[in-house]
Amino acid sequence: MREALLQWNPWWHDPDWREEWITREYYLNQCLNFINKKILVLFGIRRAGKTFIMYQLIRKILNTGVSGAKIVYINLEDERYPSDSSALDKILNTYYEITGEAKGFYLFVDEIQQLENWGGYLRRFTDLRKDVKVIISGSSSRLLEPEIATKLTGRRMEIPVWPFSFKEYLKTKGIDLGRDPYIRFGGEQGAVIHHLLNYMKFGGFPEVVLEKSIMGKLKYLNSYFSDIINKDIAERHTVNLRKIKDLTKFLLENIGNPVNITKLAKYLDISKPTLYDYLSYLEEVFMIFLVDFFSFGKEKMIRPKKIYAIDTGLRNAVSRTSRDIGRQAENLVFLHLKKFTDEIYYLKNKDKEIDFVAKINGKIWLIESKWEVKKTEKLDHLDLTAKEFNAYKLIVTKDRLGNNMIPLWLFLLTKPNEWLKYSKF
Ligand SMILES: Nc1ncnc2c1ncn2[C@@H]1O[C@H](COP(=O)(O)OP(=O)(O)OP(=O)(O)O)[C@@H](O)[C@H]1O
Ligand SMILES: [Mg+2]
Repeated sequence: MREALLQWNPWWHDPDWREEWITREYYLNQCLNFINKKILVLFGIRRAGKTFIMYQLIRKILNTGVSGAKIVYINLEDERYPSDSSALDKILNTYYEITGEAKGFYLFVDEIQQLENWGGYLRRFTDLRKDVKVIISGSSSRLLEPEIATKLTGRRMEIPVWPFSFKEYLKTKGIDLGRDPYIRFGGEQGAVIHHLLNYMKFGGFPEVVLEKSIMGKLKYLNSYFSDIINKDIAERHTVNLRKIKDLTKFLLENIGNPVNITKLAKYLDISKPTLYDYLSYLEEVFMIFLVDFFSFGKEKMIRPKKIYAIDTGLRNAVSRTSRDIGRQAENLVFLHLKKFTDEIYYLKNKDKEIDFVAKINGKIWLIESKWEVKKTEKLDHLDLTAKEFNAYKLIVTKDRLGNNMIPLWLFLLTKPNEWLKYSKF
């Protein structure tokens, strides 16, 4: 145990410790804002960069003058440790022994879901130890389940971790956006669209983005796909591996489409309840997202849900097609919207579909994703519905700006208040 702790916490001996990394300010700012008030919960898909965000946060804390001995990082994915909650007590005792510290420290616990009953454990721990700041991570949405959440009500700040955003992707290419991405790129859209298409093709997983060879990128993506299903899902649930893989591939191929449960169950030759279970497992590990029909009544229950993928690169790596740019663009719109709200729906009004209805800060947005817009194309249904709902409307395109349109690259690099400004150009 001593060995492992020393391995996990190089800063105890080396005050200059750091790794090669792309700094993720967006997450660090959120963490630093809340670290004194709440338990931080970093959650998200495998390989999105949760552990690296913890490292970067540790570096930040060290930079403020906190001594290394006051920071302890524990990785529960390490298979050497038992999963009963007394394991953590033992590890902490060893930490006290090694460093002589036992008060007012920062406790990082990576992959906490490995610990049985961790919610209760943490509640007791934080009740007794108000002097300790706690930061935990996990790669399953079960971390957020109500029964666990209520054990820590009001005391936790949940921070979803995503693969690199387009902005972070550009940063890895050494591209600085300046203050206004429109001013930076408006005159050279072609160049930024070039980057966008690459980002779309291989997605935003950090290792994949930083890997130079295409073979290497695909190897990573395929291994994520199998690890998530073989480990994250199959070790926690009883599933037919071949069927859940087929299902996942089918869903990933069909991003932006509604899922017809009856047909899909038949196609896979599984029962509907099993299909529902499988879908929930895939959501639990953040592989896919299902979007409801927008309605105030029961219609939501009978309309099919639409599917989106966590990452277009992961999707393209396991799909038979990657040429459908329109759908991938729509998937990127969805992922960006998710950063601002969980209230995202789709809508059909008088047979015309609207890709997204999103409620952001109390305001409704109607958003269409249209990679290619024809000059003569009519979007009357969007105008009508926007009036009816008193909503903002936005059409996200390849390169058109103004008249309620915004290019996808600019949309991805900005926030809702800026979308409005640009789309009025
Ligand atoms: N900010 C970053 N800069 C550079 N590389 C990164 C960064 N974040 C992640 N990576 C790369 O991606 C890999 C996966 O990141 P990390 O281990 O942090 O993900 P994770 O979400 O903790 O994954 P898991 O759930 O499998 O533990 C790292 O080993 C590293 O190679
Ligand atoms: Mg990790």
